This record gives sequence, C-alpha cells and structure tokens, in this order.
Amino acid sequence: MSKIIPPVKPYFLDEDIEQIKADIEKILQSGMLTLHTYTKEFESQFAKICNVKHALAVSSGTSALEIALRTMKLRTEDEVLVPTNTFSATAAVVIFAGAKPKLTDINSETLCIDVENIQKNITSKTKGVIAVHIGGLICPEIEEIRELCQERKLFLIEDAAHAQGSSINKKPAGSLSDAGCFSFYPTKVMTTGEGGMITTDNDEVAEKAKILRDQGKENFNSNIIIELGYNWRLPEISAAIGLTQLKRLPEIIKKRNEIAKYYDKELSRISGITPLKTPSNILNNYYKYVALIDDGIEREKLKEKLRAKGVRCSGEVYWPPLHLQPVYKRLLGTKEGDFPQAEDVCKRMICLPLYAQMMAEDAYFVVEKLRETLAEM
Ligand SMILES: Cc1ncc(COP(=O)(O)O)c(C=O)c1O
Repeated sequence: MSKIIPPVKPYFLDEDIEQIKADIEKILQSGMLTLHTYTKEFESQFAKICNVKHALAVSSGTSALEIALRTMKLRTEDEVLVPTNTFSATAAVVIFAGAKPKLTDINSETLCIDVENIQKNITSKTKGVIAVHIGGLICPEIEEIRELCQERKLFLIEDAAHAQGSSINKKPAGSLSDAGCFSFYPTKVMTTGEGGMITTDNDEVAEKAKILRDQGKENFNSNIIIELGYNWRLPEISAAIGLTQLKRLPEIIKKRNEIAKYYDKELSRISGITPLKTPSNILNNYYKYVALIDDGIEREKLKEKLRAKGVRCSGEVYWPPLHLQPVYKRLLGTKEGDFPQAEDVCKRMICLPLYAQMMAEDAYFVVEKLRETLAEM
C-alpha cells in the first residue's frame, strides 16, 4: 500500500519545536518546574482567547471537569445532567465530585444536548448541566440552555474538551457558562501532551479551583490546607508547549476548516453519506469531521475497507454512548433503547481523517476512497 492517511496528527512546525527546546532548557535551568511563569503566561493568554477573567491550567481535561464540579458544592442526592454521547470522564467526574450523573438523549442534528432534553430530565434533584461541544461544534442551543439554567438556578458547565478556539455568535467556547473545561490531550486541536484548562468569569469558582488544583493549600507557598484538594497541577514544560500551540491555534482552525469545507462539498455528491451541518453563526474548530452514513451501511465494514485502502478514520464521538457502556449500565441501570436519538446517530457516525497539515491531495485521496468504497457496498 502506497499511501496511508492517519486519523489525526499534532501540529508542530520545526520552528515551534526549536522554540519548545529552548523553553525547556530555560525551565530546567531555572529550577522552577511547576506553577511558574510559563503556566501564568499560558493561563493569561488562554483567558484572553476565551474572553474570560480567569483561566487555570490543570493536569488534564478530566481534572478540569472534576475541579469545576467540586466548586459547585454538590451533595450525594444531587443530579447533574450529562449527554450520553460523551467521553466517560464527563460523567465519571460527577461521581468523583460526590453526586450522580443523569444521562440524557441528544439532538440528532447537532449531536449535542438541547433545551428539550434538559427540560425532560430536570427534577427537584437536578443541580446542574454539563453541555459537551461535541467534535468542536459549540452546542447550537448553548445560549438558550444558559438562560434555562439561570431561570432554574442550575449551574452550567461546558465540557469544551473538543472546542479550543470554537465560537458561537463570536463568543468563544469557555465563556458561555459558569466554567469551561478544556483538554490538551495529544489528539486535540491543540495539545500540551497531557493537560487541561478551566475558564470562568466567576471569582469564587476561580479561587476555589486554584486551591483544589494544588492540594487544597491556601496558596502555593503555604503549608496550610483549607480544602481536600489533589495534585492537579500542569508542569511548566507542558505550559511552554501550550504557549507555542496557542500561537498556532488560528492557523490550525483555518486549515481544518478548509479541509472540512472541501469534504462538505464532495460528500454532497456521494450517496449514502451526509455531513453534520455547522450553523453559520458557529466557528467550528473541526476537532472531528463528522458525517452520518445511511441506515443499512455497516460502519465497521466501511471503516475496515477504508483502512485497507490507506484511510484511517478517527474515533466516533461517541460509540458506544455512555448508557450502553458496561460501567454505566451497572452504576446507573441504563440499557439499550433508553436514548433512541443518540443510539441512531452514534451508530451511523463516521469521523474522517483531519489534521492541520493535511494536504489537498490527501483530502482528495480520502474522498476518492470513500466514494469508491460506498459504491462497492
Ligand atoms: C468530551 C471529553 N471530555 C473530557 C475529556 C477528558 O480529557 P483528558 O483526556 O485531557 O483528561 C475528553 C478527552 O478526550 C473528552 O473528549
């Protein structure tokens, strides 16, 4: 086989690698390896791109979510609404933070939680909602969801693990709720190796999160523990990587959008597959390029055939959805048939390869192999 198109690739230009090497040398020579100047600069620049007062760098997207939830003062009987098509961490952290996740169905056109599914699931136990900007597409109803949460006195957290640099009506992901939680895992649109960020305009949330991130100490230089915290710190070297990635974010999003627009145009001429639409008021960072295949086409067979031809699709967002995962079936008593919209679209979803350095000819190759394979099936 001549050509192999990988599902994802991080974007590190040679000059960025040189910059990171120089930064690592500086960090090692300084002896300041955690929570120091690079982290502060990364936080300050990230807050700026999210248009929020505070950004707090943490060790992962999972810790960002857990810390954000822990600032919401949950009790064991409290429930937090979580869409079923998400990464396990989104629901697991609700349990780690001492409450119960209540899974919901999604809107099949946006793959996101919506007002209807929230309203259906609110009870006297509901304390908050986690909206996941799936695949980089900001929940199109996020502003209505925020209003609903304010009316019902519920907190709203954005799981923006996928959505660095995405925006709706020019308002960035991370600024649309009480707290935004980002991941910088290697497959993400920007990465720090491992890492995460919490964004908020709320001074109290920011202050509590800062304490929780660093073992519950009243401040970095103190030995006085005022909360049960954890080691959720981000190393300085990761922050240095994050700063070079952040500088490239607009360019990365622009390139991903160019490929996505090409896929949109070409897929409209292929039968058996329909791209997920991005509404015109949303800037999608295209963490995932999601398309739905028609009923009757076997996804696994399609992916296998594409793989044999050199096209590696990336993971779905998500299959199986959480209500069909063994652990949540066991803990929450969920079962097949609970969330029909999610089951339908997640079963038919395919995520085409996409990365910023993808060449036009690579995207052409993907489309041609897809066209050919769907015709064979
Ligand atoms: C939707 C979602 N939430 C949370 C996370 C957790 O992020 P991390 O892997 O950085 O802990 C991920 C990571 O893949 C994710 O995709």
